Amino acid sequence: MGAPGVGKGTQAELLNQRLLACHLSTGDVFRAAATRAENEQTPAMNEALQYMRRGELVPDATVWNMVRERGECLQCSGGFILDGFPRTVSQAVSLKQFMDKYGIALTAVISYELPVSDIVARLGGRRTCEKCKAVYHVTERPPKLEGRCDHCEGKLFQREDDRPESIRVRLDAYDRSTAPLIDFYRKAGLLMQVSAAGTPEEIYDRTIPELETRRMSLFAERMWTAEENRRDT
Ligand code: AP5
Repeated sequence: MGAPGVGKGTQAELLNQRLLACHLSTGDVFRAAATRAENEQTPAMNEALQYMRRGELVPDATVWNMVRERGECLQCSGGFILDGFPRTVSQAVSLKQFMDKYGIALTAVISYELPVSDIVARLGGRRTCEKCKAVYHVTERPPKLEGRCDHCEGKLFQREDDRPESIRVRLDAYDRSTAPLIDFYRKAGLLMQVSAAGTPEEIYDRTIPELETRRMSLFAERMWTAEENRRDT
């Protein structure tokens, strides 16, 4: 979790490299849908893209249908990283019901935090590769060759919703709909609040020790329950 532009996607990539878990970004799925021909888009997806362009949240039912279609990600043996989902309490409740049904548990919910002025600077300078979707920043994480991706030499572009008017709407939507989730996950004992100041690697180093501790204790708890069940049968 975290406000738009705080660096969730960048951290998810770093965590993914270390944990080898499935990475599901709802924003990436919507952007991929936007590149499909219009006749291949369902009315629900078309409507979702209009919301996204304005910087507003996509309706819960559309988001949940899309996540549910990718339910196998949540059952990946290497675990999963959800990036940008859930974003409302209603989405969090749907996720919990789904996970309870399949006996899956969250290890942690990471909330990245940064002052708004820094967030706006990160969004304003963001550039994304049109081919492989790698993310750069014009001053903080510039590509080696201006305007070209380091990995695949694809062209870099500025996201439609990174215009100042959409940024304002996105920050409002975060305060109104997503910030209440912080309390929801604090009460569930899952919340990890992490400062998003500094370089991506510094933030990552700040995150990983507590995350690993939580992973180990969840693993130990599961082994213990399995052993108890074995003894009972
Ligand atoms: P989504 O794609 O999830 O966008 P977002 O939440 O607005 O987040 P961003 O992708 O903009 O930023 P980020 O935090 O990932 O930052 P990044 O790593 O790129 O969603 C887009 C839209 O889809 C939403 O507005 C909504 O319409 C819809 N949507 C998606 N999920 C939804 C849901 N669940 N419910 C309803 N609607 C939904 O970094 C930003 C920049 O900063 C980059 O240039 C990066 O290089 C740079 N940077 C990163 N870290 C650092 C650092 N440590 N120091 C300096 N620069 C850094």
